[in-house]
Amino acid sequence: MFYEGRMRNIITIDGPASSGKGTVAKIIANRLGFSYLESGAIYRALGLWVYKNKLSDNALNSEVLNLIDSLNLKFVGDQVLLNGSNVTLQLREEFIGMLASKYSAIPDVRAKLLQFQRNFAGNDNLVTDGRDMGSIVFPNARLKIFLTASAHKRAERRFKQLHQLDKSVTIESILNDIMARDLQDSTREVAPLSYDSSFYVLDNSELTIDETINFILSRYNSATH
Ligand code: DC
Repeated sequence: MFYEGRMRNIITIDGPASSGKGTVAKIIANRLGFSYLESGAIYRALGLWVYKNKLSDNALNSEVLNLIDSLNLKFVGDQVLLNGSNVTLQLREEFIGMLASKYSAIPDVRAKLLQFQRNFAGNDNLVTDGRDMGSIVFPNARLKIFLTASAHKRAERRFKQLHQLDKSVTIESILNDIMARDLQDSTREVAPLSYDSSFYVLDNSELTIDETINFILSRYNSATH
């Protein structure tokens, strides 16, 4: 029997690419003294691992699945170690996000990575973000948030971050990437990005990070008192 969520306090924050879920989830985990799991980093690490192992674009699902057996992932503070190498920055690349989105649509891949996520941080209280954390991974979580913003706002925010590092990046290309990933993540057959009536939906297009955090913390306080 699966007792997740009864012993631990878990807050799930799901939402589309660049909705700010990672930023707010990390700050909320810090404020509450909870552990933090960025589930997207697991799928991104798989994307990077497939890429490093030079599987072709037409890799068979079974080949991708086999690679999971040799994927040793550790989260150490803010860093992600993949088989001992610090891959934190590489994981943020947009093409890795696309690979993550592609391979995460394979049902057996999701099934194989499920227990790692449920066991993450043992029995610690947890804040976690992703696409299916409230719907599939932790359905009994204390608080489930669906955090979204318009595609234009998300592209604008991402542009501001990326433009500092790479002046050749354009807002149009980012918007295209975001829309492609939204489509892929929300139309796949297993664990599509979605929410139901057990979620609080928050569109933060016009909210600051602090306002978003305050909304989630006030919902959490109401849920626990
Ligand atoms: O959150 P992110 O953008 O880093 O996630 C990268 C990709 O990984 C995303 O496009 C889809 C996939 N993903 C998923 O399928 N389920 C999750 N819980 C988290 C991410």
